[in-house]
Order: sequence, then C-alpha cells, then structure tokens
Amino acid sequence: MESPKDKAKKAAGYAAAELIQENMTIGLGTGTTAFYFIERLGERCRQGLHISAVSTSQKSWDLAREAGIPIRDIDSYTSLDLVVDGADEIDSQKRMIKGGGGALLREKIVATMSKEMIVIIDRQKLVEKLGAFPLPLEIVSFAWKATVLHIQDLGFKGAIRQTKEGKSYITDNGNLIFDIHFPSPISNPEEIDRQIRKIPGVLETGFFFNLAGKVIIGYSDGKVEIRT
Ligand code: 5RP
Repeated sequence: MESPKDKAKKAAGYAAAELIQENMTIGLGTGTTAFYFIERLGERCRQGLHISAVSTSQKSWDLAREAGIPIRDIDSYTSLDLVVDGADEIDSQKRMIKGGGGALLREKIVATMSKEMIVIIDRQKLVEKLGAFPLPLEIVSFAWKATVLHIQDLGFKGAIRQTKEGKSYITDNGNLIFDIHFPSPISNPEEIDRQIRKIPGVLETGFFFNLAGKVIIGYSDGKVEIRT
C-alpha cells in the first residue's frame, strides 16, 4: 500500500515528468522522489517521447535503463536543458540541503550544468530554517581522520555515514560522507558553507544555493503546487 508520503512524492515526480518536452536533455536526480519522476518519464519515452538523459547516480542510471529512458554518459554533454531532483530540506529562499541519498557531488555538478533545476518534494521538506536534517559533506578518504578533526575544530559535530551493515558508506565517486548534526536549525547557511569549503579534504557540501528553479510540492491527496 502506498503511504501518504509516497503518494505526495509520486504526485511531485509525475507532475515534473509531464513538463518534459521533445528533444530535451535531462539530468535525472537521485532518491525516492526522483524514482517516481524516472518511472513516469520512462512511461512517456515508451509512448514515443524523444529525450536523452544523464544520471546523478548509478542507482538512477540503473532505474532509467530499466524504465526505457535513453541514458548517456555524462561527458556526452557539457550543458543540459533541465535537471529534476529531490531535496531533503528547502527554505523560502529556495536554499536547500541535499545528499540524504549520498549523491550530492554529482547532483551539484549536474544541477550546475543545467539551464534549469526543477525540485520535486513532498510538503514535509519545506522548512523555515535549514539544519534539522543533517548536512552531508563528501570528503576524500585520504586523511579522512584529519579532515574530520578539522570539521570538528570549526565546532561542528557529526559522524561518518555508515551502511546498514556497519561499514563506511562509499559514494559513487569512491569518497566518504560526513553528516553534520546541527544542535538546532541554522540562520547562516552561507557562512557555514564558506567555512567548511576551506577544508581541503571536503569536496562538496550538501548546501545548494541559487540553483532551484521551479519547486513542485506534492501532497498526500495527490495534488501538487508549483512554486516558480
Ligand atoms: C540524494 C538527494 C535526494 O534528492 C534527497 O535526499 C531527497 O531524497 P528523497 O526524495 O528520497 O526524500 O539529495 O542525494
């Protein structure tokens, strides 16, 4: 049975898939909401829509292949028409935390090479302030302990992400994720981002600023709201 949350995610993902037009180049996001976008986009491709896509993760690549979406290597393009991706939190200025699914680095690269980013979320992702959701950082495994110490020296607490099996989670790029847990929601994400970026072992943060275009919010009754 579909949960109310799944229904909301599906509504957002399906609504985004309806916006895709013939011959577009599309970045496919990662996560449970992006799953529904890929599912419906696959249906549209099987019905005759011609597009080509690139993926922000191996998982979405596999889903796209299964769904019948023509998927290309990322280096087939240097620019894309559109990326459609989920978010873990988004505030009224469309600042986001992403990377709950561990794909933040590729997601940010693909978002940055896209002319537009459509964000697909369920209502619960809308927040007044960012920071209740842990902020993921993609860090290189070389000297990761020194990098973690550096992050902690800035006053941030957190942990290296683990798999269910208790091993370190490894990203598609072969790196680690350190999730920062803020004691309370934050007022200065740009300043925090600036501080963390100075650490050489940190490849990318899960803060996404100035990237979100349309935001499609799904509700558990199956309705959607589109904020431009
Ligand atoms: C993956 C992401 C996802 O977009 C984010 O975690 C939201 O996921 P979901 O749609 O499953 O709630 O950033 O790295």
